Amino acid sequence: MRDIKAHIQESTSFIQNIIGFRPEIGLVLGSGLGVLADLIENSKVIPYETIPHFPSSTVEGHAGELVAGEIKGKGVVMLKGRFHLYEGYEGQAVTFPVRVLKALGVEKLIVTNAAGAVNMNFQVGELMLITDHINNMGRNPLIGPNDSNFGVRFPDMSEAYSRRFLGVAKRVASKQNFNLREGVYMANLGPTYETPAEVRIARILGADAVGMSTVPEVIVAKHADIEVLGISCITNMAAGILEQPLSHHEVMEAAENVKGKFLNLVVGIIDEI
Ligand code: 6GU
Repeated sequence: MRDIKAHIQESTSFIQNIIGFRPEIGLVLGSGLGVLADLIENSKVIPYETIPHFPSSTVEGHAGELVAGEIKGKGVVMLKGRFHLYEGYEGQAVTFPVRVLKALGVEKLIVTNAAGAVNMNFQVGELMLITDHINNMGRNPLIGPNDSNFGVRFPDMSEAYSRRFLGVAKRVASKQNFNLREGVYMANLGPTYETPAEVRIARILGADAVGMSTVPEVIVAKHADIEVLGISCITNMAAGILEQPLSHHEVMEAAENVKGKFLNLVVGIIDEI
């Protein structure tokens, strides 16, 4: 615990020295959604491998750099590339960057991901606001001794995703004239995609989309009293819905196609939160 605290402090000081300002909004960019970082003005780019104690990213489509600067005049810091439990990282490592964002001053967090649709009404290329999640990872990043400087032992999760932010996002989407979905995100451990039977279970349990990320970061953000907005990019239908196999290539391609819509939405939201 003591180590973690010191590690967060060292990472934070290192980043602070380079960026020289206190960011208010943090973003975690999912697979194929890293383009958002190109919109930052006066940007400073810090590769993860140069940041003390940061894990380093291994997955295709996950660059592995922190980008800080301004969007719509607001100080933002983006994590371009995230860490996943399926890579073998512990929950504490996966969520370490969120602790660092908090220490940098972040009070609002936008988390994004690529997800498979479980809800059969959804279509590839749509964006889904995450209204709630189901942690089906069998892990929780807060397992272990609790440091009360970080947060409470038993965090309330009754509003994991800020209702205020959901309202803002819906308003921005309607101004931009596009249809935004809403739903429950179920996080599975991966790295396999679900079987059709597992997708049926997810649907029965109330999930609208499935993925392999986001939930650990949101849990730690809530613990740290950060207000969260979650957006899933529906990159494919989950297994068993269509007569076709799933591939990472397809996921990346769909994320590429939704880029424009996604960028406009997120920039609009940053302007208003
Ligand atoms: Cl179908 N499942 C999971 N677990 N993650 C995904 C996905 C499906 N599509 C994109 N990411």
